[in-house]
Amino acid sequence: MLAFGGPYGNREATLALLARAKELGIGGRNLICTGDVAAYCADPEATAGLLREAGATVVLGNCEQALGADAEDCGCGFAAGGRCDTLAAEWYAHCRRALSAGTRRWMAGLPETARFVLGGRHFAVVHGAPGEIARFVFASTPQAEKRAAIDRAGAEAVICGHSGLPFVQAVGAGLWLNAGAIGMPANDGTPRVWCALLTPRPGGTRVQLMALDYDWPVAAARMRAAGLPPAYAETLATGLWDSCEILPPAERAARGLALAPTTQDWLDKAPPVPANSAVPAAAS
Ligand SMILES: [Fe+2]
Repeated sequence: MLAFGGPYGNREATLALLARAKELGIGGRNLICTGDVAAYCADPEATAGLLREAGATVVLGNCEQALGADAEDCGCGFAAGGRCDTLAAEWYAHCRRALSAGTRRWMAGLPETARFVLGGRHFAVVHGAPGEIARFVFASTPQAEKRAAIDRAGAEAVICGHSGLPFVQAVGAGLWLNAGAIGMPANDGTPRVWCALLTPRPGGTRVQLMALDYDWPVAAARMRAAGLPPAYAETLATGLWDSCEILPPAERAARGLALAPTTQDWLDKAPPVPANSAVPAAAS
């Protein structure tokens, strides 16, 4: 399984993800997207087309929910009048113009939850949190909230997106994974984007958070040519978010600290994986 989130209309990053999947021999429904196919970047229609053509499993993001219903705003959960809210109006309008009726219908029909069993463990894939599509869940979000959300999903592990920062974290005997976003960098000061490879192991599952390099200069140039907010085109180059207003203090403090790829085994008889295992490290 190759899990990823937030393609955000970034065609070049989506092509890089699909190329990595091909190298790994992964395709079709084993490509799992946590939603937000269309958002900040220039090519929402092409990005959706690539994922549909690949046969990927895609769960409903708040962006698909809004665009599928032709709602007035993206439903991201940004504070009204804040920097993110203001800029969202621009990229959301671009998405509304750029998407075909057929793609909107596809978006409107996406499921809120996808489920699979790997290594004997039951996974639920959602956008924000189970039953809360626009909920931001971070590594620093209290464990009790994650435990309750895993139980609510009727699963042993939850894979989510929406908040844009990859992490894998033990939650009691369960697991919470944010598979990262491929359409925007992880606010770590590098242009890399992130995805997660899940493979069965004897007694459980291996989770690898992997960085992807891709042709970000082209993606940024296409954003500028489309008249999208320059701040987000710059983020593709700098790896730093324009605003940290959605971030809790711990994640805000990690801005600009390069994340390290990580491998964790989630096994029946092994100790649980450590918390916050996507750790800052020297840039690679
Ligand atoms: Fe989202």
